[in-house]
Amino acid sequence: MSADTAIFQRVAIIGLGLIGGSLAAAITRNGLAATVVATDSRADELKLGLAQGIIQHSAASVAEAVAGSDLVVMAVPVRATREVLAAVAPHLEAGAVLTDVGSTKGSFVRDVEAVFGHLPAHVIPGHPIAGSEKSGVAAANPDLFADHKVILTPAKVTDPRSLERLKALWGGCGATVLTMSPEYHDEVLAATSHLPHLIAFSLVDTLAGEDENLDIFRYAAGGFRDFTRIAASDPVMWHDIFLSNREAVLRIIDHFTRDLDQLRTAIDQQDGARLLRVFTRARAAREHFSKMLSGQAYVTNHQQQQMTFRLQPGGQIQGDIRVPGDKSISHRSIMLGALADGVTEVTGFLEGEDSLATLQAFRDMGVTIEGPDQGYVRIHGVGMQGLQAPRGPLYLGNSGTAMRLFSGLLAAQSFDSELTGDESLSRRPMGRVADPLRAMGAVIDTAEGGRPPLKIRGGNALTGIHYEMPVASAQVKSCLLLAGLYAEGVTSVTEPAPTRDHTERMLTGFGYHVHRDGATVSVSGGGRLTGGNIDVPADISSAAFFLVAASIAQGSDLTLRHVGMNPTRVGVINILRDMGADIEVLEQREIGGEPVADLRVRAADLQGIDIPEDQVPLAIDEFPVLFIAAACANGRTVLRGAEELRVKESDRIQVMADGLAAVGVHTTVTADGIIIDGGQPMTGGTVDSHGDHRIAMSFAVASLRATGEITVNDCANVATSFPGFVELARSTGIRIKADGGTE
Ligand code: S3P
Repeated sequence: MSADTAIFQRVAIIGLGLIGGSLAAAITRNGLAATVVATDSRADELKLGLAQGIIQHSAASVAEAVAGSDLVVMAVPVRATREVLAAVAPHLEAGAVLTDVGSTKGSFVRDVEAVFGHLPAHVIPGHPIAGSEKSGVAAANPDLFADHKVILTPAKVTDPRSLERLKALWGGCGATVLTMSPEYHDEVLAATSHLPHLIAFSLVDTLAGEDENLDIFRYAAGGFRDFTRIAASDPVMWHDIFLSNREAVLRIIDHFTRDLDQLRTAIDQQDGARLLRVFTRARAAREHFSKMLSGQAYVTNHQQQQMTFRLQPGGQIQGDIRVPGDKSISHRSIMLGALADGVTEVTGFLEGEDSLATLQAFRDMGVTIEGPDQGYVRIHGVGMQGLQAPRGPLYLGNSGTAMRLFSGLLAAQSFDSELTGDESLSRRPMGRVADPLRAMGAVIDTAEGGRPPLKIRGGNALTGIHYEMPVASAQVKSCLLLAGLYAEGVTSVTEPAPTRDHTERMLTGFGYHVHRDGATVSVSGGGRLTGGNIDVPADISSAAFFLVAASIAQGSDLTLRHVGMNPTRVGVINILRDMGADIEVLEQREIGGEPVADLRVRAADLQGIDIPEDQVPLAIDEFPVLFIAAACANGRTVLRGAEELRVKESDRIQVMADGLAAVGVHTTVTADGIIIDGGQPMTGGTVDSHGDHRIAMSFAVASLRATGEITVNDCANVATSFPGFVELARSTGIRIKADGGTE
């Protein structure tokens, strides 16, 4: 036994069954204590433990085991706790840590208080979430806790050093230690462990009681076996658990019974829509159930992940590709589809984190959504008044569009809601939507400086207003139009410059009248939407990376298919053409109210230009990659009137300037833009994308003209708008590799 790994001198295990034996085995094997002693009323178990070498001593009584030990672990059946505690207490050394491994924590605390008269500072209840249907020390396994969770429920009075030692012991067994209150532990376990065991026991018992039980079991396939595996667990132990966690278990049984009854009614009444809603929501929840446990929406949080792009210099772009669906249109297809009457079928939907956050938020509000499956989504609209209160905050990840559009929609609902996001979204300004919504009668709280989270009070009647937007923002315009669908009278918005009009087009497509008069667009509240089909074009903002890539890399020739060419989005093509790019627009057509075309782009000698200010809102998301084009052009490019870039997913002016500097290109940053002198040699270097998807992809494009390797850090958020970017970029000739995964 190695003295430097030992956390305790002498560990006493009271009860050498599966859990006590496995803990003894893990402590012994990993040298976590100098000595392990055990006691058990079953002499055979002790003998076996000694023979297996998992304990060093067997004690004839609890008193003998406890005396001289600095850690005592109670691994006895829950119902025996109080009696055994009474035997432990008189022999416990001063300062010795006492813990247990029982499945219910409230009952353990009550037993301790009954025996000691209070909860002592060195008593720390514990529960390893690990087990097996087998029992007894013969099944002891030193790896039983590896990669499993152990919950400790310390109290205010708990001695911090004892807690640290106990955590270190479990950590040394390979477990991840969590701490929480005993009450919370019991609620969570009632739902996630106790109820499933009850149902498994009950189901097998029900089927065994049916007349044809032999046949039923004979034909029972994998599903039955998987579902009822836990009905093979120890009946005595489980009977203890249910009786000692009575209140929490009763609450969750009542909830489950109500839900089961509703499914029964749905089947009885042939209510397929309800069944589908419950099943699709459950399937999505199953996929993300760890998130669900923490009470958040189910979207994966990419902040947990680290991804690095490594780019070898040079290359040429060739191919015939289709980039993923338009992000703005994908968000809106879910929103309007959910609020419509009838079914909406979407093809070409962007399966990126941002639009998936919107999709999940509607599921959280009771909307049945099938898919996404390779861009196909089927939304069962609930009508304008059909949304239900979500069970917790709606987590919108990185998506500013989702948060701003939702704020308009939710301000008009009858229920309260809360919108949260990741670190980047939590820094972005929301006052621009909260202020005009308040003028309509909405009640919205923001964090300091108008930042998320947004707490929206339901049940407030909205009244239409006229709003002169101070900034050209399609998100603000769309937010107010969505609120306007519910408001009394007319809601009108005047924009200082044209911004993307997907909301207006899609509303019209869903049969809602939208009035446009010059720069002012308006809706009257109280109408309805009718579901239909939406074909989402490829996102011109994603195509932009390849338009620039093929333009700057000598010998390139690339075709991009089915690209959305809405006139409010084509700034990138106008600007690149002004710079001398060779872009052919082919097969122009209109699909579902949106213009679409194929684009053929070939390498060209680009020239620096003064970017016309009226193009800024029409190319607002494409500037990061346009800065790369400018750096590769001859002469100076000047951008003005683009201060909005500073409040995107990152401060795109500063972050791009810093990134360009890291690869040897010096620029001049101004308050509302940048000056880039093209033609400076571009070296390799390390760029920090600040978690901004478009910055990361822009420097992937830059590598085509660099002379050394470029490393781009913090690239996981590329999945927000462009899933599959790395593979697609590589297929066209960008020498990209992505490193990393979950931290
Ligand atoms: C979007 C509008 C733009 C754009 C964003 C998507 C939309 O934001 O940058 O990526 O879908 O309405 P602003 O309205 O803030 O300019």
